Amino acid sequence: MKTIQDFKKMKSSGQKISLVTSYDFWSASIIDESSIDGVLVGDSAAMVMHGFESTVNAEIAMMCYHVNAVKKGLKNKILIADFPFLAHKKGVAELMNGIDRIMKAGAQAVKIEGAAGSLEIINGLVNSGVPVMGHLGLTPQSVNQTGGYKLQGKEKISWEKIILDAVSLQEAGAFALVLEMVPSDLARTITEKLEIPTIGIGAGLYTDGQILVLQDLLGLTKNFEPKFLRKYLNGFDLVKQALENFNGDVKMKKYPSSKESY
Ligand code: KIV
Repeated sequence: MKTIQDFKKMKSSGQKISLVTSYDFWSASIIDESSIDGVLVGDSAAMVMHGFESTVNAEIAMMCYHVNAVKKGLKNKILIADFPFLAHKKGVAELMNGIDRIMKAGAQAVKIEGAAGSLEIINGLVNSGVPVMGHLGLTPQSVNQTGGYKLQGKEKISWEKIILDAVSLQEAGAFALVLEMVPSDLARTITEKLEIPTIGIGAGLYTDGQILVLQDLLGLTKNFEPKFLRKYLNGFDLVKQALENFNGDVKMKKYPSSKESY
């Protein structure tokens, strides 16, 4: 199993890190047998699994439910879980309770979006033995503020702010940093500046690793075609075709055959 220390070593030796999301037992069991380096139980579960319009609807209970299921299928990979919208902004007792529940559900680390207003919290968690991954650039929990899922860091001022935030997160003790939807050159500058690994999604080739939502890389999310996404399977059409084949066989009385009957 790759640990957070291994991720740091991978950065130093120039080995790229691959992460994918998982929300359930069956996909975790497949990922567990692959060479993927680690798994994120993303709060994207709110959208992908529950059909909400944004990740704002994810909650500690929802995250624990998915972490629990993933953990059962994942024996050989690190499991990182998203800390959901505002869950770290409701006072120390609620923060610690949320972290405790997510870690006891099976997470080995948590990911917290943004830097402003969270650095002390992140530092406190790291000092309490909780590995924290940062997340900058497009932070989907702030979609109502950013006004959409857009490229971040285009203007000089936001470019510089993302760099400053990245350095602050490293200083606060984050073990890695997700950079989402930022220009490739910005991701490269941050990657070269930091000692901790950067993991990109829509951040170009120069980050220390890449992460994709499993359903996106399998082509299961119809009509989701951002420029950064490479679909490694035409999952939506393949699954639909399998369902059509089953339906056809049932209607034509071709399934089950005598071999498939008792
Ligand atoms: O929630 C999520 O799936 C994520 C990744 C896309 C980085 O945060």
